[in-house]
Amino acid sequence: MSQRTKIKALLQSQQTEIDVTVKGWVRAFRSNRFIALNDGSTNNNIQIVVDFENTDPALLKRITVGAALSVQGKLIASLGKGQTVEVVASDIEILGDSDPEKYPIQPKKHSLEFLREHAHLRFRTSTFGAIFRVRNSLAFAVHQFFQERGFVYLHTPVITASDAEGAGETFHVTNFDLDNIPKTETGEIDFKQDFFGRATNLTVSGQLEGELGAMALSDIYTFGPTFRAENSNTTRHLAEFWMIEPEVAFNDLVDNMDLAEDMLKYVIKYALDKNADDIEFLTQRLTEEEKTKPQNERSEMTLLEKLQFCLNHNFERLTYTEAIDILKESTPNKKKKFVYPIEGWGTDLQSEHERYLVEKHFKKPVILTDYPKEIKAFYMRQNDDGKTVRAMDILFPGIGEIVGGSQREERLDKLEQRMNEMGIPTEELWWYLDTRRFGSCPHAGFGLGFERLVLFVTGMGNIRDVIPFPRFPKNAEF
Ligand code: 4AD
Ligand code: MG
Repeated sequence: MSQRTKIKALLQSQQTEIDVTVKGWVRAFRSNRFIALNDGSTNNNIQIVVDFENTDPALLKRITVGAALSVQGKLIASLGKGQTVEVVASDIEILGDSDPEKYPIQPKKHSLEFLREHAHLRFRTSTFGAIFRVRNSLAFAVHQFFQERGFVYLHTPVITASDAEGAGETFHVTNFDLDNIPKTETGEIDFKQDFFGRATNLTVSGQLEGELGAMALSDIYTFGPTFRAENSNTTRHLAEFWMIEPEVAFNDLVDNMDLAEDMLKYVIKYALDKNADDIEFLTQRLTEEEKTKPQNERSEMTLLEKLQFCLNHNFERLTYTEAIDILKESTPNKKKKFVYPIEGWGTDLQSEHERYLVEKHFKKPVILTDYPKEIKAFYMRQNDDGKTVRAMDILFPGIGEIVGGSQREERLDKLEQRMNEMGIPTEELWWYLDTRRFGSCPHAGFGLGFERLVLFVTGMGNIRDVIPFPRFPKNAEF
């Protein structure tokens, strides 16, 4: 294997007049002379200068958009505009041809919809290169944040027998022959004969298992794929998404809010520092896109300003009840009312309400707490008012809910009572209830939807564009 230098390093090189080997894919080839080559290390291409008079015409013909090349040559200070260095090629090897008639990614602007249909090749565009480098940095920063604070990264199972959120949105897992599903005498599916001897599903959340870990290791986090067969035909939902779920023994709701706010700021700052050029590119992209909107719908801030704003301001903290009071008094603009009117206390907030609070009322990230128990999961700690639970949702501009979490109900009797009220079988979750039987203690945690974070930091409008291989209804091709 010959040595190669990544294009990012070449472009930053202090030294010129050195021999280099560079490998990548052709983004453009102008005048049989200038190749724009990209290897994914940066959005910027390196310019390769071809001595076309002394190059075999058959080889020149094979330098087409999408082809993979290995180039040897000299790195020199560029005389041309738009780049500081370029490579004067002495030897070009075609590693993989690309038929220009058939290659779908041409050197022009493609719509995001088109690229979604070519998701297997969209990594080769500037926008998706930037998105996935930012995504990578955010994932790394999440680990670094928790590792610096002594958290244990706990792997929770993908296949489970429980529905942590109790919302009935699970995907079944089975190895039954679908043409011949065993039935019991009463005609029901006989899960006893299935692989695990019981009905199982893909996990919707690692929280319940995470709590078991926290009740011994104190501070844990999970970071893995979760699956929901729900309302995923929106720009904010996927059927398969990644979730980060910290769980901390001895924390209460205020500690939980502090942890979430610190984490979000830490990872956003990390990406801003590490991926300054990609975020600059995405900022320009979004600014161009905003220009196509009517003046009154355009964002007041650029992407970069939005990210910096988020770092420099405390998140607004208020209760659900306070939020309802604000919303009841509000009309989103002069003429229009909310599509879903606020019926009163007790109803769940729609994303238009969440976005109104964040984007119009407070104009910054908001943490809502103490929701009505009826609209939240069984495991949240009940307040003394008998009506609300120690829940928290973090709402972000342009996104809506980015984090959902709570202080947990650590009192066995209260938890069992709530499970009974909600029809959640206590026998099946005996292992979860054991934590409340043996050394129970206050604890709290939350779930951050990783793709919603990537959406925020990249300024993209559709969650399907920030995960390499999106899973949504009728889509699992690649
Ligand atoms: O609010 P959720 O449902 O909370 C839980 O699952 C808790 N067990 C978390 C915890 O306390 N450990 O989901 C958490 C976050 C949401 O705030 C949202 O960001 C994201 O996960 N999320 C989704 N992201 C993409 N597609 C979907 N279908 C999502 N559903 C939830
Ligand atoms: Mg939620």
